[in-house]
Amino acid sequence: MKPNPQAAYARHLDDRQPGEGLLADALSGLSKSPKRLPSKYFYDARGSELFERICEQPEYYPTRTESAIMREYVGAIAAALGPQVRLVEYGSGSGLKTRLLLRHLESPVAYVPVEISRSALAESTGKLECEFPAIEMLPVCADFAQPIKLPRAARAPRQTVVYFPGSTLGNFGSDDALRLLREMRSEAGQGGGVLDGGVLIGIDLVKDPATLEAAYNDAAGVTAEFTLNLLVRMNHELGADFDLAGFRHRARWHPLAERIETHIVSRREQDVHIDGRAFRFAENEAMLVEYSCKYTLEGFARFAARAGLRVAEVWTDPHRQFSVQWLVCD
Ligand code: AVI
Repeated sequence: MKPNPQAAYARHLDDRQPGEGLLADALSGLSKSPKRLPSKYFYDARGSELFERICEQPEYYPTRTESAIMREYVGAIAAALGPQVRLVEYGSGSGLKTRLLLRHLESPVAYVPVEISRSALAESTGKLECEFPAIEMLPVCADFAQPIKLPRAARAPRQTVVYFPGSTLGNFGSDDALRLLREMRSEAGQGGGVLDGGVLIGIDLVKDPATLEAAYNDAAGVTAEFTLNLLVRMNHELGADFDLAGFRHRARWHPLAERIETHIVSRREQDVHIDGRAFRFAENEAMLVEYSCKYTLEGFARFAARAGLRVAEVWTDPHRQFSVQWLVCD
C-alpha cells in the first residue's frame, strides 16, 4: 500500500482547527475601537498564493535580500550552528528556505517544521524527507504563536536551533514578539541538546521610508489584493457581507514605532454583518490588520537581550537592508 503523506505528517497535531478562531477574533476585533484583525488570518490558500507573488514584486526587497544573504553566507552560518543540530522551524511554509540550510549543516539530527497549513506541511516534509533520508522529520501542524510542546529527536542532538526566517517576528507587536523570543529561547535551551542552542532569525532593518512604503504598496497592487483578501475570506468562511468595492488597502511607515502599519480603510459609511451582528464603519474609518516592525541592529540586540538571547553573529547585505542573526542563550 502506498503511504499516505497527509496521515503520516499528521503525527503531531494541534487539536485546534486552523482558522477556527476567525469568527471569535472577527467579532471581538470589529467590536474594538479602533477596529483590528490579526494578520495571521491573511494566510488561507489564496492569501498564501498572493504572499508568494508579493515576494516576487520588484519593490518587495525582504525575500530576495534574505535569500541572497543566505546564499552568500550559508557556509559561515552552518559553521556557527555546528554539527548534529535538531532544527526547529516556526512557520515553515513551503520549506524552500530550509533546504539550503539543511544541505550545508553538518550531520543534522532532526528537522521539526511547525506550520499551521496541513497541506503545506505535508508537501514540504514529503519533499525534504526524500532529499534528506538521514534526517529525522518531526512535522508539527500547529500555530507557533501558541505555546506548544515540540517532539524530541530519537537521536540526542548536540543542540537545538530555532530557525525563524522571513522577518516574521516583525508581524508581532512588541509584547507578543518578546513572548515568542522567550519561547524560542526556552526551546533552544531545553530541546534535548547536550549544549544550549540558539535562534537563527531573519530581521528586516529600518531604512528610508520611501523604500519601506513602496515595498508594502507595490505598483501591481498585489499587496492590496493580499490585504483585501481578508474580507473575501470572511465573506466565504463566516458568511459576512463586506462589499469589496467599499474598502481600500493603506500601508504607511510609522517613524516613532518603527513599523509599517497596514489598515483596511472604509471608503464610505457602511454596515457590515457577521453572524447576525452589524458593525458600522464610518467614512475613512481604518481597521488595523498588520504591523511589519523593522529594527536597527542595536535596537534588536537590546530587544533579544530581554528574552535572554545574545547576538553572536550578524550577516547582512551590502546596503544593510536586511539581516540574518545568530542569537545564543545568555
Ligand atoms: C510575512 N511577513 C514578514 C510579511 C511582511 O513583510 O510583513 C507579510 C507581508 N505583508 C505585506 N507584505 C508582506
